[in-house]
Amino acid sequence: MTPLPYHEDPRPDPRMLAPRAAVRSNAPRLSLNGHWRFDMAETVAEAPAGFADPGYDDGGWAELPVPAHWQLHGYGRPAYTNTRYPFPIDPPRVPTENPTGSYRRTVAVPAEWAGERIVLRFEGVDSCFAAWVNGHEVGTAQGSRLPSEFDVTEAVRPGAENLVAVRVHQWSAGSYLEDQDMWWMSGIFRDVALLARPAGGVADVFVHAGYEDGVGSLRVDVPGGARVLVPELGIDAAAGDDVRVDGVQPWSAEVPRLYDLRVVTPGERVDLRVGFRTVRISDGLLTVNGERVLLRGVNRHEFHPDRGRAVTGQDMLDDVLLMKRHNINAVRTSHYPPHPHFLELCDEYGLYVVDECDLETHGFVHVGWRGNPTDDPAWGDAYEDRMRRMVERDKNHACVIMWSLGNESWTGRNLERMYRYAHDRDPGRPVHYEHCPDGRWSDVYSRMYASQAETDLIGRREEPARGVDPVQDAARRAAPFVLCEYAHAMGNGPGGLTEYQELFESHPRCQGGFVWEWIDHGIRTRDGEGREFFGYGGDFGEELHDGNFVADGLLFPDRTPSPGLHEFAKVIEPVRITGTPDGRLRITNLHEVRDLAHLRFRWTVAEDGIEVEAGELDLPAVAAGGSVELDRPAEAGGDAETWLTVRAVLAADEPWAPAGHEVAWGQVQLAARPRTAAALTGGAVALDRVRGVLTEVADIPVDGPRLDAWRAPTDNDRIPHDSAADAWRTIGLHRLRHRVVDVRDEDGGVVVRTRSAPAALDAGFLSTMRWAPLAGGGLLLDVSVRPEGDWTGPIPRLGLAWSLPAELDRVTWYGGGPGEAYPDTRRAARIGRFTSSVDDLQTPYVMPQENGRRAGVRWAELTGRGGGLRIEALPTDDGDPETFGLTVRRWTSADLDAALHPVDLVPGDRVRLTVDMAHRGVGTASCGPDVLPQHELHAAPARLRLALTRA
Ligand code: GAL
Repeated sequence: MTPLPYHEDPRPDPRMLAPRAAVRSNAPRLSLNGHWRFDMAETVAEAPAGFADPGYDDGGWAELPVPAHWQLHGYGRPAYTNTRYPFPIDPPRVPTENPTGSYRRTVAVPAEWAGERIVLRFEGVDSCFAAWVNGHEVGTAQGSRLPSEFDVTEAVRPGAENLVAVRVHQWSAGSYLEDQDMWWMSGIFRDVALLARPAGGVADVFVHAGYEDGVGSLRVDVPGGARVLVPELGIDAAAGDDVRVDGVQPWSAEVPRLYDLRVVTPGERVDLRVGFRTVRISDGLLTVNGERVLLRGVNRHEFHPDRGRAVTGQDMLDDVLLMKRHNINAVRTSHYPPHPHFLELCDEYGLYVVDECDLETHGFVHVGWRGNPTDDPAWGDAYEDRMRRMVERDKNHACVIMWSLGNESWTGRNLERMYRYAHDRDPGRPVHYEHCPDGRWSDVYSRMYASQAETDLIGRREEPARGVDPVQDAARRAAPFVLCEYAHAMGNGPGGLTEYQELFESHPRCQGGFVWEWIDHGIRTRDGEGREFFGYGGDFGEELHDGNFVADGLLFPDRTPSPGLHEFAKVIEPVRITGTPDGRLRITNLHEVRDLAHLRFRWTVAEDGIEVEAGELDLPAVAAGGSVELDRPAEAGGDAETWLTVRAVLAADEPWAPAGHEVAWGQVQLAARPRTAAALTGGAVALDRVRGVLTEVADIPVDGPRLDAWRAPTDNDRIPHDSAADAWRTIGLHRLRHRVVDVRDEDGGVVVRTRSAPAALDAGFLSTMRWAPLAGGGLLLDVSVRPEGDWTGPIPRLGLAWSLPAELDRVTWYGGGPGEAYPDTRRAARIGRFTSSVDDLQTPYVMPQENGRRAGVRWAELTGRGGGLRIEALPTDDGDPETFGLTVRRWTSADLDAALHPVDLVPGDRVRLTVDMAHRGVGTASCGPDVLPQHELHAAPARLRLALTRA
């Protein structure tokens, strides 16, 4: 049999040096980042022969930056698939058409390097490469998100210009192990460097810094020995010594205390920042320094809309700061080890990390896992090599609390090799893996997208058995539970976070999880008219793709927080501020380590949304896990609806946010709404008795209201097969027709009854709208809606749709805000008075869909240059809601539904207003549970009373 070419051979190249810890060293280093000469060929065979020779003429070549993906610089195009391999499943073979980039650059190596061992280091090359120095091949590697090093001493000429040449293949055997749900993008996308490795240097270093029962412990392993110095702790020890460390402060995500540690050998000095902490599973709980931790986490892919996975230090810092500012305390590095600098930031700012190996073979699911490398011994070395390269690189980071074998690679003997490698080498960290059906090869019980109901069962350790081995089942049942993915943040959502958090807080076994996912991977691009938008699968001509499933993050591609992130931050806030039944305030400290001394508690009292009083609470010390009850600092004074708002803000600057940054808040209603509307002016009114709608109100030409029972489907409405949106479309909820049943004059007003129903269906809605003049001016609308006929499935909304003049482009409202809110995503909405332009009310989801609704609205004013319309909800006598949901936009729901990108939405000549009587939650059915029953909407009678006046 002819040997496999290196790019189709899964076995690691023995020329790759043993992996070692990423460190900061005083040994000389030359960065090879920058511009390289670049050539692109369609196949491996067509790559220019002899290009690695110093004499080769690359005069006609272009330049490409390193680090970068070539697809984002005009060579080929990005392609997105979720699980399907974009090439035939034929392991380890890959297509002949295999884009191959040839890179060349020279580097002046100082004469002083003569006599040193010289190493060429790559932090990440996607997906396979061979490297040459001065025409000598030095090695090959796979493992896109893993470092590789080669000894190039023999090839380098110190004191001269040296040619470094690298040939990179888009597809390789390694591609079968890298089927993560993300863009396929290639090239040298992380740093490259040439290192002088001094004789007698630090070949590797493994810091074991623990903390138990108030005492620290330290042992630093260095092959060949070294001195270990921690000046701040007065430590000067030999490598290998077990040192007891008194008086040390432990490291945690909340208080990420680090100490500078220096390792010194005759040839080298290495600087590390170490945190003392012990991670352990004890009594079925995952603990850090003996305390149960609750992971308020996210799954983070590396992504930037212009650079792809070639992220900069600033991009990484932006991520860390945004996480910390939104109360996130944990990251799963889905689904590969991140750039090593990211872990330095997590150490420094305080984030728990589940460091995941670069492994996913999900595409084999489409052939029933036939041929899956995970259980094929021919791939065993490749699996273990990947684990080893990750563990060795990242082993010194306090932030890494678990190793993860990878994602969605089913099960098999090669996972056992990875698991054993990690445990043997590093007994100090548990190992995570989700995809074994019986939980083998994982020290925690990990699942993705388990529903709230199942999570509850798991929390009680009452979940059904999985797998057939009773011993294994018992072991899993005894293990702590983590949702390695939950709350799919695709488009409008995720709904249902609160219900998960309640389970995490009530069942000790449920130790939180990681929202899927941190950021939308939309690539900044332009349409034919030069308009910018964020592209997703299919926007780059892919023949096989998974559309906008790549845009499912809490951040928009440009790192603007989405409403989902605001909601998550609120749900996981580390301080809870609530009212008690007996009229007091309770402040609960949900931190695991910190007391509340770093926070100030500022309060305001607002009447009808206008602040009338403010102050600061005087809080006694509240230890982590404790709570305190206080008298309310103020009571209602007037007869307006009155709310007390308490905000916990940082008392002083923290490394991750300035003083004043809001960490948590709570509201308590001090006085309910009065039962009468404010006295307001009316204006001209006209009713079209044929169509049964107003044509003028408050001197404003209008058209409406008409019953609306539809929303532009969200990703969660439309992604699953047999989705809710499919049903709505089949029924025809998006094309209701209206028949005016009758228009009657009654009691000085007019009663309009209208039946609204889709064509071809015998079910519908009968609305009765009673119009009457309002004492003091304006119109009173009392609307009742009654479903008729057979309505079975859920419906998205029951609302009143109006069209208004385009000049009404400002909205002021009193109710939930400032951001959008749906029945299962309304924790972040506080009651207040808010103002926005109509344009700013829109949420620019990468795929347009229902958005921008404000919840719990008591009144809203839509105004333009010459006044406007005020709509106020009034109490009914039978307890119907005194609030409504508000959406205002410059296009229709049909426009929203038809648009593929936000640039497709063109403002029309009308403002579209919908006043919701009821609205369905959003859920997370695009991947996970649908809308929970308590947030579901079924056709049922509804009523709303509105006062319409001039604003
Ligand atoms: C999971 C997978 C993630 C992502 C998610 C859906 O199964 O692990 O990588 O694909 O589903 O967005």
